[in-house]
Amino acid sequence: MDHFLYRGGVLHAEDVAIPEIAAAVGTPFYVYSAATLTRHFRLFDEALEGTDHLVCFAIKSNSNLAVLKLLGNLGAGMDVVSGGEYRRAKAAGVPGERIVFSGVGKTREEIALALTGGIRQFNVESEPELRAISEIATALGVTAPIALRVNPDVDAKTHEKIATGKSENKFGIPIAKARAVYAEAAKLPGICVVGVDVHIGSQLTELAPFEAAFTKVRELTLALREDGHDIRRLDLGGGLGIPYTRSNDAPPLPTDYGAMIKRVLGDLGCEIEIEPGRLISGNAGVMVSSVIYLKEGEGRNFLILDAAMNDLVRPSMYGAHHDIVPVIEAQPGTEPAPFDVVGPVCETGDTFAKGREITPLSPGDLVAFRSAGAYGAVMASEYNSRPLIPEVLVEGDHFAVIRQRPSFEEMLGRDSIPVWL
Ligand code: LLP
Repeated sequence: MDHFLYRGGVLHAEDVAIPEIAAAVGTPFYVYSAATLTRHFRLFDEALEGTDHLVCFAIKSNSNLAVLKLLGNLGAGMDVVSGGEYRRAKAAGVPGERIVFSGVGKTREEIALALTGGIRQFNVESEPELRAISEIATALGVTAPIALRVNPDVDAKTHEKIATGKSENKFGIPIAKARAVYAEAAKLPGICVVGVDVHIGSQLTELAPFEAAFTKVRELTLALREDGHDIRRLDLGGGLGIPYTRSNDAPPLPTDYGAMIKRVLGDLGCEIEIEPGRLISGNAGVMVSSVIYLKEGEGRNFLILDAAMNDLVRPSMYGAHHDIVPVIEAQPGTEPAPFDVVGPVCETGDTFAKGREITPLSPGDLVAFRSAGAYGAVMASEYNSRPLIPEVLVEGDHFAVIRQRPSFEEMLGRDSIPVWL
């Protein structure tokens, strides 16, 4: 459930009419619902009730400071994958002891930043990384808490670009090698082993691959304890999918996911961490755009919007589906017609949908892309010198711009022309 509903034929974000925001900030823009973010975070938190746990929001899905502050205030931890994300978590007031640091390529600077500013644990993805963390921690006179991210060789049954748990993927340490690497970790001076980490992919629509991976983590935990390691924390990653269309089968709910976690791992006495991103932020946001032109092509009609692939890249990058709905509901009896929905960017890939059935619209009309709160704004670029679009947060009957649209002066001001030109 989200909080983007029609009232009196007008799409609202909670109690605010979308056209009101459009009039204030101009299109295109992203708008997020505070109530949906809160609800989705609580669903996970409640799903793990009864076990010691921390829900670490995967910042990569939506890293706006206001979103992080809202979730941090609810008690969320944060999963970061770069120094920039670490800084964002800290800037939103999240303490280091609630921040986990994932990612295959942490630089020495990033490791030092987290060790100095405070970190709950590094999720370590290779032996060279493990040694680097130990060296840096030793030089700083501290000990780094770590979990090894293991690659369980499980098929997540999701889009190949976002599956991470197969042995051919770059992620994690092969689970068969894990005991040996833990043995090495235990000997390193700057390292304190605290747990095991796994993340098999994103937008998973079934529990079975999770269960297969968590069962392997369970077996590994028991073996590692036999080897003398104090495994007290399990980080199970993120990945639970969301419904992108109203019609398709809904993925399992956080409650089912939580129940499965408790069933498979509950008796180990470990603290459980999870790193959901999409399920918290995805359906908490929409992207609003307006129609620039309707163009008749040969055998197809184009709806040309003022938003483009640089603003929401998921359709061009993964062939992802986002529902596109009119902000003002069509009059009853108006027949939808098929349109190719495209943006102004100069490539054919700048296509949001092909042959999508949409009720007739006119230039200036607003449309909303649903489920755009995750991997939307964060993946945007300024391709074609199009300014990054603003982000707005709604709470009840009020809204705030939480990221301004940059001016062209700001954009151009970032470049400099060398004196010899
Ligand atoms: N933890 C780790 C280590 C991850 O790599 C990810 C996502 C997550 C947690 C959060 O996964 P989620 O709960 O959001 O599924 N740009 C793609 C998605 C990339 C996901 C990358 N890793 C998309 O637009 O679909």
